[in-house]
Amino acid sequence: MSEAPGRLRARRRTAVLISGRGSNLRALIEGCAAPAASAGIALVISNQPQAPGLQHARAAGIACAVVDHRPGSRADFEQSLSSVLQAHEIDIVCLAGFMRVLSADFVLRWRDRLLNIHPSLLPAFPGLDTHRRALAAGVRWHGCTVHFVRAEVDAGPIIVQGVVPVRLDDTEERLAARVLEVEHRCYPLALELVASGRARVEDERVVIDGAAAADQVLINPLADDS
Ligand code: GRF
Repeated sequence: MSEAPGRLRARRRTAVLISGRGSNLRALIEGCAAPAASAGIALVISNQPQAPGLQHARAAGIACAVVDHRPGSRADFEQSLSSVLQAHEIDIVCLAGFMRVLSADFVLRWRDRLLNIHPSLLPAFPGLDTHRRALAAGVRWHGCTVHFVRAEVDAGPIIVQGVVPVRLDDTEERLAARVLEVEHRCYPLALELVASGRARVEDERVVIDGAAAADQVLINPLADDS
């Protein structure tokens, strides 16, 4: 889509919610640094005051908020989250290693504007310990999924998936590291597709506009030219 000359297209104001390390947050910040990016990271929220990932936000000069889940009920926590998101006029929310389950009400309010990244090829291996379970199951391919969030945990329309081969001598750590690399490519791509309006939900499946974009929604390092 062409822009009016001399006018900057408004970027979709995006919040990233984290609980820990924040490597996906860093990948999203880097992705949104591209001049043509459709999203801008306007806010980072952590429910853990000491989350190391907050450093990435501070280093990039992005507004940070800590919303601790511990003092009150889940309703109180989500009320505080909503207030901060509203105060920063957020359009899109990305969960990136955010270790709290959000209520059906909250998820509904953000329907099709709330993204999550999960370290498996959903619908395989929802929940925790995905790499250990993938090794135990003997799958030959593993990976990650960026999806729109629904009330059911680790479910919802799939935007982008990244695949990696599982090697016969893999350990959980090696496999996790290989998956994390594709996570860092998948999440910025998925956010760009959503923020630009090229990804939309039809009948609970994500449709991607444009042949070039549609080709990219499966990231397979083995197929890379580079
Ligand atoms: C990632 O593996 C993500 O898929 C999962 O939690 C982990 C977060 O890692 N939801 P990081 O904090 O982004 O480094």
